[in-house]
Amino acid sequence: MDYIDLRSDTVTKPTPEMREAMAEAEVGDDVYRDDPTVNQLEDLAAQMLGKEAAIFVPSGTMGNLIAQLVHCQRGDEVIVGNLSHIYLNEAGGMSALGGIQPCPVPNQKDGTLLLDELLASIRTEDVHHPITRLICLENTQNICGGVPLTPAYTRQVGELAHQNGLFLHIDGARIFNSAVAQNVSVRELVEPADSVMFCLSKGLVAPIGSILVGSQKFIARARHIRKMLGGGMRQVGVVAAAGIISLEKMVNRLADDHNRARKLANGLRQVQGLAVDEGSPYSNMVYLNLTDDVEMDSRQVCERAHPMGILLDAENPRRFRLVTHYWIDDDAVNKTISAFRTILNYRLSHY
Ligand SMILES: Cc1ncc(COP(=O)(O)O)c(C=O)c1O
Repeated sequence: MDYIDLRSDTVTKPTPEMREAMAEAEVGDDVYRDDPTVNQLEDLAAQMLGKEAAIFVPSGTMGNLIAQLVHCQRGDEVIVGNLSHIYLNEAGGMSALGGIQPCPVPNQKDGTLLLDELLASIRTEDVHHPITRLICLENTQNICGGVPLTPAYTRQVGELAHQNGLFLHIDGARIFNSAVAQNVSVRELVEPADSVMFCLSKGLVAPIGSILVGSQKFIARARHIRKMLGGGMRQVGVVAAAGIISLEKMVNRLADDHNRARKLANGLRQVQGLAVDEGSPYSNMVYLNLTDDVEMDSRQVCERAHPMGILLDAENPRRFRLVTHYWIDDDAVNKTISAFRTILNYRLSHY
């Protein structure tokens, strides 16, 4: 890549091997289930996550939305984290397109939703109330620092959901990061969930696409709703071919991204003017703030980093999120640390 791009793992471009596989992919009309490459990807994904079936979807947002539309009726309520991507960053899709109401519960620092608060949020039977139908967890929890939720916690939430007649959906956009960070199997991690969405187009490097998994019955309904939303694609094996490489070759190497995130965080901890979050990183995301004595804001730091060949994401005027991925090597980590040092030293000598 031309730039050291730390804004997100969504910026990853496909590898040469992916591009070759895409060019040579066997294809067919996937709406007719005729695309052998998509079928292979879906079978592989279902098997890796230990679920009966899978469906390839254009984006994580669509995958999460389809899951909610399958699990819920209009007027139902979904319990979500108040810092979850579904609640904050999916354009209110559940309400706009499904007539579904979110019930936000505070995300704790470790990304969890307290079991007591989940329980208290479930509506009692009353004609005045919406019907609570679904709990959504996010793993890794992005805004809480890319923090992984454990299999034990997920099991507890699954039990709570099922004992109360609810479904559990996991927004596992980065579920493989979570599994690798905890050194647990992804199957164990998602076992309690009725449905899971994960993204191929983030740390797994594919250019496009996400996967939704669940029971045969759930996926059959999901196929119908994907069509309704305009997400039925045709010779999409061209894209799925990259996703197969994601699942076969890009999962274990996520540990490299996590190691580099640690190296980046350790380096930035030595830079005057920066305060890296305690505990960060938990996976491939480093969260940090400018200290109070720095007069520049984070947007100005981003602007100064740009001509140095570094793209950064300012979360707010004092805060950054830096994300490591396939195209961030050791050299990129070192250059980023020294760029921060240069930018913040410049500040010290000029104010
Ligand atoms: C936690 C989480 N869930 C869902 C999504 C949605 O994925 P997409 O951008 O493919 O719609 C994202 C995207 O960044 C995400 O971070």
